[in-house]
Amino acid sequence: MKTIIEPFRIRSVEPLRHTTPEQREQFLAEAGYNLFLIEAKNILIDLLTDSGTGAMSTEQWAAMMRGDESYAGSQSFFRLKASVQELTGFRHVIPTHQGRAAERILFHVMCRPGQTVPNNTHFDTTRANIEQAGARAVDLPCPEAADTQARHPFKGDMDVAALERLIEAEGRERIPLIMLTVTNNSGGGQPVSLANIAAVKQVAASHGIPFYLDACRFAENAWFIQLREPGYKAWSPKQIAQKMFSFADGCTFSAKKDAFANIGGFLCTQDDRLADQEKELLILTEGFPTYGGLAGRDLEAIAVGLHEVLDPDYLQYRIASTEYLGRHISEQGVPIVQPPGGHAIYIDAGLMLPHIPRQQFPAQALAVALYRHAGIRSVEIGSVMFGDHARHELLRLAIPRRVYTQSHIDYVVEAILEVYARRRLIRGFEIVSEPVFLRHFAARFRPLQ
Ligand SMILES: Cc1ncc(COP(=O)(O)O)c(C=O)c1O
Repeated sequence: MKTIIEPFRIRSVEPLRHTTPEQREQFLAEAGYNLFLIEAKNILIDLLTDSGTGAMSTEQWAAMMRGDESYAGSQSFFRLKASVQELTGFRHVIPTHQGRAAERILFHVMCRPGQTVPNNTHFDTTRANIEQAGARAVDLPCPEAADTQARHPFKGDMDVAALERLIEAEGRERIPLIMLTVTNNSGGGQPVSLANIAAVKQVAASHGIPFYLDACRFAENAWFIQLREPGYKAWSPKQIAQKMFSFADGCTFSAKKDAFANIGGFLCTQDDRLADQEKELLILTEGFPTYGGLAGRDLEAIAVGLHEVLDPDYLQYRIASTEYLGRHISEQGVPIVQPPGGHAIYIDAGLMLPHIPRQQFPAQALAVALYRHAGIRSVEIGSVMFGDHARHELLRLAIPRRVYTQSHIDYVVEAILEVYARRRLIRGFEIVSEPVFLRHFAARFRPLQ
């Protein structure tokens, strides 16, 4: 059979609520044209994020009933630890309430003011946590990533030559760690090849610099390696994932993505001394090291999710359904980051709306237009999110795991094509108020004429 089906059936459903165009106009005005500030009940299809929005399986719900809520030494922690160690091989597994908590602890332990942390592309919370620690976050994407239309199998790769130049220029002692984000979320959900992971590790090791993965979409990355990188056709996603982790000295992990959990994360390291410092910080703000800000039942859900996500049937469906959305809009001329990423489709709003300059936030304007037209929520990944660090003006349509069916995606395709047909009528925005960090969460906008 050629048809790729959702490899699950649905036993619990949640109604969706339609709104009228007039209501949506009012919600937009009340929210200052920031879709983060619209109540979820007023969203028809929510593609804001794939983070924490997945549907859990019957096995995960069953495991949650086993949650051991002991303050110290919870059995749920040891089940999580075994699951993470089987996959990653890391000695220390430190649970956190989500990925950014792992980042904050890692950077506060490892970074000093004036230091620099390179990454293929830092996610917004990663960048903000590094800057909070007084260090500088530097993006070193491969040159192919600069052209959103270029079709390269591993556009998430880091530019290894640029990494070597950076180490040369800064000096080894000013680089406390090197990171790679798999898949590269802010760079279009693009995968990183095993060859690149190995090359970055080699450079890091030759200078004695620790190498970490920001690993929250490790399974999607592993699937792309199996599909696209010569030599891995016969490998299982789990074997590939284990190989990816084998190069790293540690990782940060948001369990809200490829672990199918609604909350959770962890920080791993091989280094005993670092682990002790990290656990001390953990106790201050997250909790005792065997729960780290999570309930025992959350630890159980993550332990099971880490196993389920590596099912080849699931990964085949997941990547095919994202590609389906990308193909159906790009065939009609909508410029997307090519090739389609793992968890999301990114529309290049800079290309689609050339009449809106970047100072007027074309991707934000597109996000508003799509909500106004069809009640679909997406997110700007451009100058609102990254300010002057933005390399592109992208609109991300992130697909929650195991939540929407093909007819939902067909609706999204239809809506995008209708907005595309009227793209010349879309106008830009100016910011009227904004917070210091992570302004996309709370900035308010005014439409321009
Ligand atoms: C690549 C990447 N790193 C880190 C994070 C932060 O994880 P969390 O949202 O669990 O704090 C995210 C979240 O979207 C992400 O995509």
